[in-house]
Amino acid sequence: MSAAPAAREASGCVGYRAARPEDGRALRRLVHAAGTLEANTGYAYVLLADHFRATTLLAERGGAPVGFVAAYRPPTHPDAVFVWQVGVAPGARGLGVARGLLDALVAAPGCAGVRFLEATVAPSNEASRRLFESFARRRGAPVAWSDGYPEPLFDGPHEAERLIRIGPLAAGAESDL
Ligand SMILES: CC(C)(COP(=O)(O)OP(=O)(O)OC[C@H]1O[C@@H](n2cnc3c(N)ncnc32)[C@H](O)[C@@H]1OP(=O)(O)O)[C@@H](O)C(=O)NCCC(=O)NCCS
Repeated sequence: MSAAPAAREASGCVGYRAARPEDGRALRRLVHAAGTLEANTGYAYVLLADHFRATTLLAERGGAPVGFVAAYRPPTHPDAVFVWQVGVAPGARGLGVARGLLDALVAAPGCAGVRFLEATVAPSNEASRRLFESFARRRGAPVAWSDGYPEPLFDGPHEAERLIRIGPLAAGAESDL
């Protein structure tokens, strides 16, 4: 399925589409390829691609998956979309694929009514911090940082995860992803 024009990256060669259950394997492979992401079970990615398909997107180039964003609207505050993981294959980085994924995510019907984009960022992950700050800057949206999930919450060694909350976001055009 090709992406809707509104969801295409400016380069014209990367398309974005909502996930389907059969994308679970591709999601997990992209997580491994990304290198620094914590891999969850294969089952978890099938669930994401099924139950959270409205907010889980794949980026494809020439029909091959090159990136993904896995997100959901937290039941505690559904006016936000929480980006759980975003990853781009090493060979496709620096081309705006992650930027396109976040743009396509907030424009997707699954994000109708969303006013905030949230994510947690490990302090050592500069690329991640820059990606989200760039998203906020391009939209002229306020950014609030808070403690998020400190190290002791995790089982075993795990860097702290600072919470970034971006918004309120201006209402934007919906795509037909
Ligand atoms: C983080 C990641 C998704 C960025 O993907 P990408 O497609 O290369 O990013 P983009 O080309 O869309 O760049 C988006 C913005 O982030 C910035 N950025 C991306 N990678 C960067 C890096 N390594 N260092 C500094 N800034 C970086 C870009 O300069 C751009 O900012 P701009 O709009 O101000 O120019 C990718 O590096 C990745 O998959 N990393 C491993 C997984 C990970 O850490 N994910 C984030 C935590 S869940």
